[in-house]
Amino acid sequence: MLSNAVLSLFLLTVTSVHAIWPVPTSISTGNSTLWISDIVVVTYNGEKIPWIKQYVPLVGNNKFSSKEIVKGGVARTAKNILDNNFVPWKLYPRMALEQTEPSPWQHKIYITRLDIVQTEKDTEKTFKPLAGEVDESYELTLNANGKAKITAVSSTGVLRALESFSQLFFQHSKGAIYTRLAPVKISDAPQYDHRGLLLDVSRDWLPLDAIYRTIDALSWSKMNRLHIHATDSQSWPLEIPSMPELHQKGAYARGKTYSPSDIAAIQTYAIQRGVEAYIEVDSPGHLGVVALSHPDLITGWGASPWTTYCAEPPCGQLKLNEPKVDPFLDKLTDDLLPRLAPYSAYFHTGGDEVNFNEYNLDPTVGTNDTSVIVPLLQKFVDKHHARVRKAGLTPIVWEEIPANYNVSIGEDVVVQSWLGDAAIKSLTAKGHKVITSNYNYWYLDCGRGAWLNFAEGESFAENWPFNDWCGPTKGWRLIYSYDPRAGLTDEEAKLVIGGEVGAWAEMIDEVNLDSILWPRSSAAGEVLWSGRLDAQGNNRTQLDAGPRLAEFRERLVARGVRADPIHMVFCTQGMSSDTCLFQ
Ligand SMILES: *[C@@H]1O[C@H](CO)[C@@H](O)[C@H](O)[C@H]1NC(C)=O
Ligand SMILES: *[C@@H]1O[C@H](CO)[C@@H](O)[C@H](O)[C@H]1NC(C)=O
Ligand SMILES: *[C@@H]1O[C@H](CO)[C@@H](O)[C@H](O)[C@H]1NC(C)=O
Ligand SMILES: *[C@@H]1O[C@H](CO)[C@@H](O)[C@H](O)[C@H]1NC(C)=O
Repeated sequence: MLSNAVLSLFLLTVTSVHAIWPVPTSISTGNSTLWISDIVVVTYNGEKIPWIKQYVPLVGNNKFSSKEIVKGGVARTAKNILDNNFVPWKLYPRMALEQTEPSPWQHKIYITRLDIVQTEKDTEKTFKPLAGEVDESYELTLNANGKAKITAVSSTGVLRALESFSQLFFQHSKGAIYTRLAPVKISDAPQYDHRGLLLDVSRDWLPLDAIYRTIDALSWSKMNRLHIHATDSQSWPLEIPSMPELHQKGAYARGKTYSPSDIAAIQTYAIQRGVEAYIEVDSPGHLGVVALSHPDLITGWGASPWTTYCAEPPCGQLKLNEPKVDPFLDKLTDDLLPRLAPYSAYFHTGGDEVNFNEYNLDPTVGTNDTSVIVPLLQKFVDKHHARVRKAGLTPIVWEEIPANYNVSIGEDVVVQSWLGDAAIKSLTAKGHKVITSNYNYWYLDCGRGAWLNFAEGESFAENWPFNDWCGPTKGWRLIYSYDPRAGLTDEEAKLVIGGEVGAWAEMIDEVNLDSILWPRSSAAGEVLWSGRLDAQGNNRTQLDAGPRLAEFRERLVARGVRADPIHMVFCTQGMSSDTCLFQ
């Protein structure tokens, strides 16, 4: 009797804990058990598609097919449910796992069908949308007899639904796969259109596998943008076939580059997972390394002391009034942008941390006077954005361009803000569309100590204990507490189209990448998908999110991402929000 009472108590509590990350708009679950195997009949708009564990969607001539994308999504779902699952002993009380698992000896009801209905046809924009151009909403039902149904407007919505479906299941300690949540009914849609991660592949080169793994984890978090910061002052890994000298002289080493087919492969891989990968080539600052191949174009390469001329070494900016710069940028964009345009709607032109003192060193400018530099900067931005538009792409710029330098930009341009709340208020008040990467909350590289060395003596003493510029570390709880629309009027709030967490790579390479990104990025993913506020207008709490994120972290690990734990097993086994509550 006692064990029965304890058992049902566990079942009840567990049922209330297990759910989906990010939390759906609405979800109801039951407490019936269903099993799932490698035999499921799957249909897509009435047509049978295979329930197999591996499928690489076909792409014909840059044309994406909805059915191929859904087939790929279904195969990954099968793989994640059947092979890359986990036994959730960390999520149940001490020694209690077996009591909470369904009996494998009783008659099993299996999931027999998954019917997918897409209610509208995808368009070309579905696969490379501007914010708001794709409907990612979906409905998912799973009845107690083992029949599942997905309804979505777009194939992207189907992918989001499949991800939610996959998160219903666990591995039994005896091996089979089950859910105890049937019947399930989910109705879901995102709060923000742009839910991204900035990945810096210039300061440290990342191999393709690491980028693919990152895209996978983004899609599991229902995030939909990968912003690739492709070049910077330290290295130029981006191959430009018409100007091979850029990577031949500017990459860190032979082979530590991205060829045109690498970039197309990354973007294709991303699209197949409902993620848009877009490229940034920062300018006119943050590209000192171009001096190695095109010394005429750059001012201040390696200038010293660097603190006078740039935010970090090595310095170097495009000269601002040098006639050779325009032909260079024409050639660069004529080569690069038409190759990006089939796969993304955006191109990020950078524009952050332009150092005016560096123009003291530029013979074509010869001053740091704002009244001289700003009109030149305006001309630079106008011409550069015209190149982006000519290629059919929409420019994104860092906030300094409109906010600090008072350069005017087109209404189409999206502004990426990193300086925080006041900046977002003033940018949206001026009518700019904004994505936020508020460094006080969403910079993942912060708070890990300085990466610079300090010589013994004055600077050693002054800088002890060698913090970095943006500490403390942004733990998931801090990341989760950020409301991108806080303090804005309704009108201003609408202009915040989303956000990106930032992973600047001074101290991030493929070895620590996963643990830096995950599951902290997923915390931002839930803010952006579900909203900081719940349906009642209350802040979502760590007490609600913590158990779900702890579970999601186990899924990330089971699927091959070496994500950090969010607390110790004592806390996850407590199953009660006050087990590890600060008092
Ligand atoms: C399962 O759910 C039903 C209906 O909500 C409820 O009556 C029953 O007590 C639950 N069973 C357990 C074991 O929690
Ligand atoms: C501009 O440059 C001069 C040196 O030419 C320097 O003294 C001054 O501090 C600089 N202004 C700013 C705002 O950095
Ligand atoms: C910014 O530029 C606009 C014209 O484009 C001008 O009206 C405004 O006064 C400038 N603001 C500042 C702070 O310089
Ligand atoms: C949500 O949290 C913020 C601080 O992060 C606070 O300013 C705000 O009042 C809270 N809102 C609600 C509705 O509790």
